[in-house]
Order: sequence, then structure tokens, then C-alpha cells
Amino acid sequence: MAAPGEVEVIRGRPYRTWLYNGQFPGPEIRVAEGERVRVTVENRLPEGTTVHWHGIPVPNAMDGVPGVTQDPIRPGDNFLYDFVADVPGTYLYHSHAGLQIDRGLVAPFIVEERQPAVDYDREHTVILDDFLPGEPAPLSGGPGGMMRRGGMRGGMMGAQMPPYAGLLINGRLPDDPTVFETKRGERVRLRLLNPSGATTFRFAIAGHRMDVVAADGQSVQPLTVDSLLIGMGERYDAIVAADQPGVWTMMAVAVEANLLPARALLRYADAGAATPPPANAVPEGLERGRALELADLRALDNSAGRAPDRTIDLALSGGMMSSAWTINGQTYPDAEPISIREGERVRIRMINHSMMWHPMHLHGHFFRVADISKDTILVPPHMGRATIDFTADNPGNWLFHCHNIYHMEAGMARVLRYA
Ligand code: C2O
Ligand code: CU
Repeated sequence: MAAPGEVEVIRGRPYRTWLYNGQFPGPEIRVAEGERVRVTVENRLPEGTTVHWHGIPVPNAMDGVPGVTQDPIRPGDNFLYDFVADVPGTYLYHSHAGLQIDRGLVAPFIVEERQPAVDYDREHTVILDDFLPGEPAPLSGGPGGMMRRGGMRGGMMGAQMPPYAGLLINGRLPDDPTVFETKRGERVRLRLLNPSGATTFRFAIAGHRMDVVAADGQSVQPLTVDSLLIGMGERYDAIVAADQPGVWTMMAVAVEANLLPARALLRYADAGAATPPPANAVPEGLERGRALELADLRALDNSAGRAPDRTIDLALSGGMMSSAWTINGQTYPDAEPISIREGERVRIRMINHSMMWHPMHLHGHFFRVADISKDTILVPPHMGRATIDFTADNPGNWLFHCHNIYHMEAGMARVLRYA
């Protein structure tokens, strides 16, 4: 059920927002690979909503995009989502209406493997988010935008940010951190998710390296890193070897905003009376060591895709003198659909003319980027590029968009249409 409710992100100071089943983040849905999933969404919000199963290849009519795959569920109405969770992995579900993600309508969705590709003793779901108390509103641009940015928390030149009050791990601010338990000798699987509205994070754990074993839910050959960058809509699974008893800081820094980093603790059960690290302790991995590079990841299978039948070039722009964010100069929904044909291998080449990161997310398909499969790709600012290839094997109308919800709302989206 999606309904208004109260949460205490700051203990003792409940505030009213919109929630799934009264929880923030929303309740984790966990199913086994191949299971049929039926979720009835009851809309008790004062406006229309939809639910999108981010990353899960569902039939088009179940994809939850208002105006593309369904009408918004009206206040007081129900909608039944019904699909089979065929591909195991770490996913999200969230509202796809307007800026409702920044109300708190976000949650994890886990499809467990029948045969896990890696061994582990326990797992934790780690949700990185930004905290917007109050009603999300579109960001204003225009020539005066630069001046107004000065008054916005976390603003940087060319990087307009909503007035976030803080950064969260599993719904808690850094002064009241979530504690993740472990024991000496365990292998801990972390499912890292970023369902935030507008924050790209860099994540690291003090005293521990991470073996990245999946990207956007899809298994990769383990790669040991000290930190990783995770954009809106992205997920990584990492195994941490718990071999350093004590209490350690897990930290997620916003790369485009000056906000206190999100923080949690990794606590060994046998840590006894170990004193927690000081609140300002920064994991060394955030500053040095190996940062994850997508190009270094290798897929488990070596199914290199075939050569593309069609190549589409997209220029991503916006953010300077206007409030619009564009793809090839057009702002969605006043934008031409991109036509593809069933069975084609499609290549999309992107170039980012703006000064912000854009996590570009394709609905309904996994794509190949470098050697691996993903559904969301961070395109770096300042003429950064990314190229993705996918097979058009799931007919319908599918959104392709920036997962910064303020960019999406300001036009950075297109529909991919099967001709
Ligand atoms: Cu997670 Cu179209 O979004
Ligand atoms: Cu963007």
C-alpha cells in the first residue's frame, strides 16, 4: 500500500511523507529465482502513482511507467502487478510518478539464486539515499539559477541539487547509524543499492576491502576494490571477508554535493566493548587504494554480443542556462520515440555535454557495457562517454532515461519503441 505516513529519520522528530506499508525505505521483497510475483498496489496517496520493478525484465504492461505502459493508479484504486522473476539479482522497486522517489517510495527487491555463484555466510541490504524533508519540487534553472544555487545546500557550479537535509544508509542519518552485524571468519554479502533522487555516492568500509561479485544484480568474476562509485538506480553486490574484529565505519560520500557523508557501522559480535570509531573517521579506501572501474569487471559467462545492427548517438545536455535536461536537444515528453526492431542488436553511444553525472537506465533489457551486463550506466560529466549494446528481445514501449529524478522530470528521457 502506498499511503501518507510518518517516519522518524531524526529520532523523536517524526515527519509526514509518503510510504510503502508505512516503512522507509519500503519493505524488502524477496523471492526465489523463477517465482511468480503478484503485488497489489493500493493507492491511498492524494495523487496518481505507479510502481516500477527496476532492472527486472518484466512484460511491458507490468513495467509501471505512467503514460507509457499504464495510466497512473488513481487515488483509491488498486493495480495488480504480475510477473515471473526469472533473473536472480539485486533490484529495486520504486514509484515512477513525478518526483515521488524523493517522498520515500523506494525499496529493495531481491531475487535469490537457486545456485549462488559465490559462497557467503550472511548478507545485508545496504540502501544509500538522500533525505528530503518536505515536498519535492522541480529545480529552477535559468540565468538566475547560479545565484540561487548559492542559497541551496550542497550546490556547486553547474550541479543544482535539491535542498537535502542529509544522507542516509537504511533510513538513518550519520549521527544515528545503522549497525550491520558480523562475526570473525564470516563472508558477508553486501547488497548495495542507490535508490536516491539525485545523489551519486562513493562507498568504502574502513579496514576491509570488497570483492565485487555482481553489478546491477548480474554476476561478475570477483574483483577486489577499496571503493566504488554507485549512481542512482545502480546496485553492486560485494563480499567482505570479516577478518578484522572490531567496529568499523561504512561510509558513502556524495560526489556532487557538500553534505555530511552517509554512515553505518560494521560490528563484529565478538568485538566486546570495542569503542565505535569516531563519527569523523573516514575509511582509508575513500581516499586511496583501488576504485572500481567498470572496464576491469569480467562477466562470468563469455557470451560476447554480436556486432550491432543499428547505432544510435545520443547527446546529453543541460543544467547551465536553462532548467531543461535534454537528449539530442529534445525534452521528454515532447521528444520523438527511438524506433528499434525486434531481434536487432542495438548500440547506443552517449556523450555528456553537461557538468553532472547521468545514470542512464534502460527499462526491460539488460545491456552490455564493457564486458558485463547492467541496466544503469553512469555517464561521466565534461564530455564523458558511454556505449551500451543490447538485443531487442522484449517488445513494447520502454523508457530510457536519466535516473536523477530531477533530470528525468526536466526532460532527460526517451521512449524506445519496437517498430
Ligand atoms: Cu528505476 Cu525508470 O526507473
Ligand atoms: Cu541526469
